[in-house]
Amino acid sequence: MKKIYLDFPNPDSHYNIFLGKAILEKFEQTFKLYQYSKVGVLIDANLFKFVESNLANYFGTNFVSIIVPSGEQHKNLDTAQKIWLKLLQQEFDRDSILINFGGGVVTDLGGFVASTFMRGLKFINIPTSLLAQVDASVGGKTGVDLQGYKNLIGTFSQPYGVVLDTQIMATMPDRSFTSGLSEVLKHGLIADADYFQKIARFLELQKACTLKKEVAVLEQIVEGSVRIKSEIVRQDQKESGIRKILNFGHTIGHAVETFSFFTPDPLMHGEAISLGILGEAKISQLMGKISSKDFDTIKKVIAISNLPTKYDFEKSKVLEIMSKDKKKSGKTVKWTLLEKIGEAIYDQEVLPAIIHQGLVEIKT
Ligand SMILES: NC(=O)c1ccc[n+]([C@@H]2O[C@H](COP(=O)([O-])OP(=O)(O)OC[C@H]3O[C@@H](n4cnc5c(N)ncnc54)[C@H](O)[C@@H]3O)[C@@H](O)[C@H]2O)c1
Ligand SMILES: [Zn+2]
Repeated sequence: MKKIYLDFPNPDSHYNIFLGKAILEKFEQTFKLYQYSKVGVLIDANLFKFVESNLANYFGTNFVSIIVPSGEQHKNLDTAQKIWLKLLQQEFDRDSILINFGGGVVTDLGGFVASTFMRGLKFINIPTSLLAQVDASVGGKTGVDLQGYKNLIGTFSQPYGVVLDTQIMATMPDRSFTSGLSEVLKHGLIADADYFQKIARFLELQKACTLKKEVAVLEQIVEGSVRIKSEIVRQDQKESGIRKILNFGHTIGHAVETFSFFTPDPLMHGEAISLGILGEAKISQLMGKISSKDFDTIKKVIAISNLPTKYDFEKSKVLEIMSKDKKKSGKTVKWTLLEKIGEAIYDQEVLPAIIHQGLVEIKT
């Protein structure tokens, strides 16, 4: 088991990330669960089916399970209120702890509930999807959606600890696992060319979705991404500067994702982000930053990952959604672009004709 210590500047926000294969089996002793007045385990109904028989093995027998329906549509205040009421009814107090066991929906929702209940309950995150392990595990963002606006209500609150068990991802659906790889590629593209090349080599050797069972490879992927993201977040916890580079691929990506919600087959977040990465890499090239060779490499790696490189969308609608992007400052959208593979810059302005070219690159 590896231990990665996140030493954020604020002393209240230090925590350990434990990483390894089958480490959930040591969870109860690692976190000495007996010392808490109450232990809650928040989990969604879908994951519950896969792990029900192991819960006692991970958390002992003295815990309260809180089961919520699965899916982004339940990441809202209504579900949060049900959890608060359950904590109240079960007499949780400030010596209690909440364990958020699931994908990013459960860790965002549970982190929000815990950070607001009685002005803050300790919580531990056990992210179980690739996206949640490589992205939601670091950064302290918690929250719920409000009337379809993503993550509008939330807090910055660091967990007491995070457990990344590489074995838990084996049961993920293939599409969902593959989708998480786009955030992994993004981490390499914005901050670490060697890491990007290493992931590219894994993907050349093996079909993307089969990696979900390769615990040794997963350990390298998860560790690499966690180290990159935590180094960025350490420098800028509240996203006023360098942290914006994590938004690479997300200006076009979010707009295409929102567009797809109104179609019969919505994109998964990571699928939209792979399109965003490609569109924004094209913009970076047209702005005289990355070379056409780098652009071709990025496109090739996305294609071998089995992530989409083209999508059928209405350009005018996507442009309209983009203009409402929450990262907009003043009247113009500010972009994160690539200087080269492994280096990004933020707060860039881009002319409409170049944005158009970026969208043309990914449109079928
Ligand atoms: N806080 C952050 O920094 C941050 C970063 C990235 C994403 N997010 C949030 O994460 C959410 C998306 O996360 P997600 O993709 O994990 O979605 P999710 O939590 O909805 O999980 C997707 C589905 O996969 C299932 N699942 C999860 N792990 C599984 C496993 N090991 N085996 C079988 N099934 C499994 C879940 O039950 C669910 O049905 C979004 O709400 C997003 O806003 C937050
Ligand atoms: Zn993302």
